[in-house]
Amino acid sequence: MTVNEQDVEKIVRQLLSEMGTASQSGPAKGAFTSYTSLGSTGVTSIPDKAHVAVLVENERFEIKEYTIPPLGDDDILVKVEGCGVCGTDAHEFKRDPFGLIPVALGHEGTGEIVAMGKNVKTDSAGKALNIGDKVVTCMIFADDPEITMFDLNKKNVGKADVYGLLPDDEYHLNGWFSDYIFVRGGSTIFNVSDLDLDSRILIEPAAVLVHAVERAKSTDILRFNSRVAVQGCGPIGLLCIAVLRTMGIENITAVDGNEKRLEFAKRLGAGRTVNFNDYQGIEALTKGVYDSFGGHLCDFAFQCTGNPKAHANVYKFIRNGGGLCELGFFVNGGDATINPHFDLCSKEINLVGSWVYTLRDYGTTFDFLRRAKAIGLPVSELITHRFPLQDINEALKTNLAMTGLKIAIVN
Ligand SMILES: NC(=O)c1ccc[n+]([C@@H]2O[C@H](COP(=O)([O-])OP(=O)(O)OC[C@H]3O[C@@H](n4cnc5c(N)ncnc54)[C@H](O)[C@@H]3O)[C@@H](O)[C@H]2O)c1
Ligand SMILES: [Zn+2]
Repeated sequence: MTVNEQDVEKIVRQLLSEMGTASQSGPAKGAFTSYTSLGSTGVTSIPDKAHVAVLVENERFEIKEYTIPPLGDDDILVKVEGCGVCGTDAHEFKRDPFGLIPVALGHEGTGEIVAMGKNVKTDSAGKALNIGDKVVTCMIFADDPEITMFDLNKKNVGKADVYGLLPDDEYHLNGWFSDYIFVRGGSTIFNVSDLDLDSRILIEPAAVLVHAVERAKSTDILRFNSRVAVQGCGPIGLLCIAVLRTMGIENITAVDGNEKRLEFAKRLGAGRTVNFNDYQGIEALTKGVYDSFGGHLCDFAFQCTGNPKAHANVYKFIRNGGGLCELGFFVNGGDATINPHFDLCSKEINLVGSWVYTLRDYGTTFDFLRRAKAIGLPVSELITHRFPLQDINEALKTNLAMTGLKIAIVN
């Protein structure tokens, strides 16, 4: 993927610019709630100090020890079990585009509640929270949490605070690349105790696909028996296939140039694959997709690459009156050239864009991951590399080398 780093910077700066909720909602000075009970999974005591991977300069984390702060009545202390490495972490690791150094990174994390303030009773969806529960955090919506959680028609994520992208402060335990994270009162948190660790690590990226499929459904074209093309078989395209498969959509063709990824696409629910290296030119490639559907173009396509050429190509795969969800450009990957007459207008293509997710999509994502496991999809194999916290530098380098799919820190 070609990434314009300045655009990543702009987006994250915009998100961070509204920050303040998390860092301002810590315990009131002097407030103290002692840790009264412990979890059930082998935690015998809470240490005085936590270990946090702090990015201290470009391409170098140091594991720092910090005293675990006293909890306020609304705060939660979580013992971290694992955290996925995201492209955003890799950007920050490489050159600190967000100007956050020193920073505790890691926003795709999960762990077990080991202590909480006396006011904490439920998670952000109203589900009971107890010591020992497994949780994830989600972006904090500073504008209108109610609307953002329940309105599918959100425009974008709006003003968000993200654990793992917070500026350093007096608490320090702000990221999931750590052994303990300090979740302040008012943060968005979900009880996901019924999901296994790998599923919990995949919640954040999977939510992107749940949202994309919700957007696709809004075109009213996606049906159980639709012919669906998924272009791009990185983690995003592969999760797209798995989400479709768990919905009962089975007529799926995966398109990519990487045979290993295409093989995995089949195991996640694609009936057929098209390797673009086997075709010369877009007409031949379109014929390949057409043949894969037994002599039909697709009804609906998901564009899951950050390649502008792939955006231009995907229209050709779609039948007249069909639909397209473009979700491959989280950041600016450059301009694409299409022919508005042939590609859009005369074909009456129903096009939707998709970006990030809503809190409501988070709930659906938990259901998706449960269902995917129940029907035996090997979703956890998306995590190709697991590193202990002390090998965080190597984990980030492995992410940058792009040799695996999902890289994770597992404590
Ligand atoms: N919409 C969102 O909110 C959102 C969120 C996260 C990521 N993304 C975007 O999704 C895209 C995919 O993410 P990923 O992690 O899977 O990336 P990735 O780089 O691992 O995977 C991209 C895949 O596309 C394939 N590809 C490249 N050019 C192609 C072409 N012309 N035809 C077919 N396949 C082609 C590559 O071989 C690769 O397997 C990224 O560009 C990312 O920015 C969007
Ligand atoms: Zn991320």
